[in-house]
Amino acid sequence: TGPFTVAIDGPAAAGKGTVGRAVAARFGFRHLDTGLLYRAVGARVLAGAEPVAAARDLTPEDLTVEGLRTQAVAQAASEVAVIPEVRAALAEFQRWFARMDGGAVLDGRDIGTVIVPDAEVKLFVTASAEVRADRRFLELSPGDPALTRAAVLADVEARDARDIGRAESPLIAAADATIIDTSCLSIEDAVEAATARVAEKL
Ligand code: C5P
Repeated sequence: TGPFTVAIDGPAAAGKGTVGRAVAARFGFRHLDTGLLYRAVGARVLAGAEPVAAARDLTPEDLTVEGLRTQAVAQAASEVAVIPEVRAALAEFQRWFARMDGGAVLDGRDIGTVIVPDAEVKLFVTASAEVRADRRFLELSPGDPALTRAAVLADVEARDARDIGRAESPLIAAADATIIDTSCLSIEDAVEAATARVAEKL
C-alpha cells in the first residue's frame, strides 16, 4: 500500500493523542505525536540550548528524556513553536514520516494545514478550555500534588492564545477538516467518529 495520512489537529488536551493512537492501532498505521518534537526542543532550551540549533540536531534520544509531559516543558515548547526556523527544521521529518508507505497518523497543530495539506483524512479535535483543563489536571495531578486546576486552566489558555495567535502556522482547522468536539463525547464515541471518517476514505 502507498502513503495514506490521517492529520489530526487541535488545541492542547482535546484528545488528539488518544484518538490518534486508537485510529493507528485500529488500521495498523504508524503514529507520531508531533507535540513531542516541540517539547523535546523546549526541554533542550530549558537546559540552555539555542532553539534553532536544538531543533536542527534533535536526536531520537531527545524524545525519550524524562519530564517532557510537564507544564514547564509544555510552555517552553509553545514558545519555541513560534520560531519559523524551528518549525522548518522539524517539518522535513514529519513529512517523511507522513508519506512513507503504509498509513500514518500525525497529531499536532498544523498537520492538515501546513505539514501535509493533501492528507487523505483531516480531523480537528477540540473541546472547551474548561473540559480540556479538567482532563489535563486529572492526568498530571497524581505526579504533581501541588498542581491546581486553576494553574492548569491558565496554562491551557496561555498555550491556546500563543498557538492561535502566532504568525507562522497558527492553530486553525483546515477548511476541509472534520470537526470532532469532544466536550460531550466519551473516548469511545470520539474514536468511533474518527474511525468512521478514515474507513470512508480508505
Ligand atoms: O501537543 P502538545 O501539547 O504536546 O504540544 C506542545 C506545544 O508544541 C503546543 O502548545 C504547540 O505550541 C507546539 N506544537 C506546535 N505544532 C505541532 C505540535 C505542537 O506548534 N504540530
